[in-house]
Amino acid sequence: MSPAVRIGLAIAVLGAVGVAAVWLARPGPHAGGGGTESRRHWISSRQCQECHAEVWDEWHGSHHQISYLNPEVRKLSDEFRVKECQACHLPRPIFETGIGNRTLPRITRPDEGVDCLTCHLAPDGQILARRARPDVPCAPRADARASAVEACETCHNQHGTTDQWRASEWARKGTTCNDCHMPEVQRRHGGKGREHVFHGAHDAAMLRKAGTFRAEVHDGELRMTLTNTGAGHNFPTEERHRAVDIVYRFVPRDGAPPAEWTRAWRFRQPYRDEPGENTQLPAGASKEVRVAIPPGTARVQARLWYRLTPFSVDGDPGSTLLDEKEIPLP
Ligand code: HEC
Ligand code: HEC
Ligand code: HEC
Ligand code: HEC
Ligand code: HEC
Repeated sequence: MSPAVRIGLAIAVLGAVGVAAVWLARPGPHAGGGGTESRRHWISSRQCQECHAEVWDEWHGSHHQISYLNPEVRKLSDEFRVKECQACHLPRPIFETGIGNRTLPRITRPDEGVDCLTCHLAPDGQILARRARPDVPCAPRADARASAVEACETCHNQHGTTDQWRASEWARKGTTCNDCHMPEVQRRHGGKGREHVFHGAHDAAMLRKAGTFRAEVHDGELRMTLTNTGAGHNFPTEERHRAVDIVYRFVPRDGAPPAEWTRAWRFRQPYRDEPGENTQLPAGASKEVRVAIPPGTARVQARLWYRLTPFSVDGDPGSTLLDEKEIPLP
């Protein structure tokens, strides 16, 4: 090697070290340095937590976050030995296979379930959002698909929730999944955000929004009616486990103890191997059941229960009392 070549090589090496030094010294995340951060390699939702603590706190503890750890799911999937369950409960980003198509399973970060990267990461490594923000460290790119119903449909049409919504008045009016499941919230710094808890079947307040329950006495009959006024799909929806029960009992005049609670109706999509029709209540629809009132009745009582599984009984953690009515008879 000639001295000239040797010096040339040394300069090249020094140059490379210099470039690396400049790269390493570039503004860190807290400096809010814009463009360079878009080249950051996103491998975990933990990275987002650093700047999006509020969103993280909403998501953390949600059923999206626990989807792979959820004991109910682990039990039914035989600890995920049933491989097909992993695709939605521990998914790779939905944009990898294209929204609306089945996701692929991942094997990393079991504690992150359906995570920030699942819904926000594009195959080219950029963050997708409603608005483009080239000025902020994660430099999201605008992509309407990230907030579209089709994004949810990727995982939420297995038992027809998205189809039920499409057939409803809500779809015609343009009320989407996120209008109900991601309500607007005020962020501590700056403007409005969208809540990331995704309230559903595990939240009593959300469940109570689904229906309007009425009980009336007419012509010696107790008439109980449930109308699906607030769910953007069937009530209950999706999971074949779920059930909604209308129950009633009569309190006699003679002071004797009331009769047992009797089930007047169950709204439910049966398991595949179970006999019976799908009795879920479509959005906007009503169901009335009538029962003859026996003589000597002082009061009638009616209740509306939500059951996480068809085996949940009154008083179980899996049962939520949504409404109750009591009507004294003249
Ligand atoms: C170094 C800080 C930082 C990190 C790390 C970061 N972001 Fe951001 N991001 C911001 C700031 C600042 C904004 C603008 C203010 C806001 O919306 O909170 C923003 C905005 C956004 C927006 C909203 C764009 C819009 O519609 O207004 C999304 C979505 C987003 N980030 C997703 C992510 C995700 C997902 C991750 C992790 C993979 C992440 N960000 C990591 C700083 C960061
Ligand atoms: C196509 C995507 C997809 C696949 C595949 C899938 N799930 Fe799910 N699973 C969901 C969605 C979406 C929900 C939430 C909606 C709901 O609760 O009805 C859910 C909810 C559940 C729940 C209710 C959890 C709770 O706490 O109430 C159980 C249990 C469950 N899944 C078990 C399984 C099992 C077992 C498998 C494999 C046989 C499986 N899932 C495969 C998408 C999927
Ligand atoms: C990659 C798959 C996937 C995508 C995409 C997805 N979800 Fe989910 N979602 C799930 C799974 C799996 C569960 C159930 C997890 C569990 O209970 O273990 C779930 C649960 C829910 C629940 C019920 C929570 C509860 O506590 O009962 C709601 C509501 C929900 N998702 C709404 C949405 C909406 C709205 C979108 C679109 C913005 C969406 N999801 C996108 C997989 C997904
Ligand atoms: C199930 C899909 C889903 C998951 C999981 C998810 N997001 Fe989002 N996120 C959305 C959708 C959809 C919107 C846009 C809502 C709109 O404006 O219509 C959004 C909006 C945002 C915004 C802008 C609005 C706001 O509230 O500030 C930020 C920032 C954000 N997401 C960050 C995150 C972070 C960080 C995580 C993980 C902790 C995460 N997201 C997990 C679907 C998701
Ligand atoms: C008009 C408001 C509204 C709209 C629109 C809406 N939902 Fe819901 N959703 C509810 C209410 C209320 C509940 C609780 C009652 C129930 O489980 O049906 C619920 C429950 C759920 C659950 C929990 C189901 C379970 O059994 O665990 C999931 C998942 C869900 N919605 C997904 C979606 C998706 C996906 C869309 C869009 C295709 C959507 N929702 C549109 C109001 C809405």
